[in-house]
Amino acid sequence: MSNKLLSILFGAAIALSPAAFAADENLADFHAEMGGCESCHANGEPSADGAFEFQQCQSCHGSLAEMSANHKAHDGVLTCADCHAPHDMNVGQKPTCDACHDDGRKAQ
Ligand code: HEC
Ligand code: HEC
Ligand code: HEC
Ligand code: HEC
Repeated sequence: MSNKLLSILFGAAIALSPAAFAADENLADFHAEMGGCESCHANGEPSADGAFEFQQCQSCHGSLAEMSANHKAHDGVLTCADCHAPHDMNVGQKPTCDACHDDGRKAQ
C-alpha cells in the first residue's frame, strides 16, 4: 500500500473518532450527541439511585472487573459516575484519586 493511501486512511480514522472533536465538552453532552439522554437515562429522566445509569455504562464499556487496574480495584465498590460524573467531567479528563484516598496515590 502506498504511503499516500496510508496517510489518507490514517487521517480518516482521526476524523471519524468522536473523541477527537469533543475535548471541551462534558461526558453527558458528548454521549447525548451519539444516543440522546436515553443512552444513559430511562425515558431521558435520571433515576433516584443511579443504578440504571451504571448498568447503561457497563452495557457499552464493560464492567469495572474487565477494565484497567484503576478500575479493577473498585469492582463492587464504586459506580462509573463516582469518578466520571458525566455532567461535571469533560471528555479526556482523567479522574483523580484524592477525593477519596488521602495517601497521595495516583492513577496507574
Ligand atoms: C453518559 C451518560 C449520561 C448522559 C448521556 C446523560 N446523563 Fe444525565 N446523569 C448521568 C448520571 C450518571 C447522573 C447522576 C449524577 C451524576 O453523577 O452526574 C446524571 C444526572 C442527571 C440529572 C440530575 C441532576 C444532576 O445533574 O445531578 C439530570 C437532570 C440529568 N442527568 C439530565 C440529563 C439530560 C437532560 C441529558 C441529555 C441532554 C442527560 N442527562 C444525559 C448520566 C448521563
Ligand atoms: C476510581 C475511579 C474510576 C472509576 C470508578 C471508573 N473510572 Fe474510568 N477511568 C479512571 C481513570 C483514572 C482513568 C484513566 C486511566 C485509566 O484508563 O485507567 C479512566 C479511564 C476511563 C476511560 C478511557 C480509557 C481510554 O481509552 O483512555 C473510559 C472509557 C472509562 N474510564 C470508563 C469507565 C466506566 C465505563 C466505568 C464504570 C464501569 C469507569 N470508567 C469507572 C477512573 C475511574
Ligand atoms: C450507548 C453506549 C454508551 C453508553 C451507555 C455509555 N458510553 Fe461512554 N462512550 C461510548 C462511546 C462510543 C465512546 C467514544 C469511544 C470511546 O472513547 O470509547 C464513549 C466514551 C466514554 C469515555 C471516554 C471519553 C474520552 O475521554 O475520550 C468515558 C470516560 C465514558 N464514555 C464514560 C461513560 C460513563 C461513565 C457512562 C455511564 C454513565 C457511559 N460512558 C455510558 C459509549 C457509551
Ligand atoms: C469516589 C471515591 C474513590 C475514588 C475517586 C478513588 N477510590 Fe480507590 N477506593 C475507594 C473505595 C471506597 C475503596 C474500597 C475501600 C478501601 O479499601 O479503601 C477503594 C479501594 C482502592 C484500592 C484497593 C484497596 C487499597 O486501598 O489499596 C486501590 C488500589 C484504589 N482504591 C486505588 C485508587 C486509585 C489509583 C484512584 C485514582 C485513580 C482511586 N482509587 C480513586 C474509593 C475511591
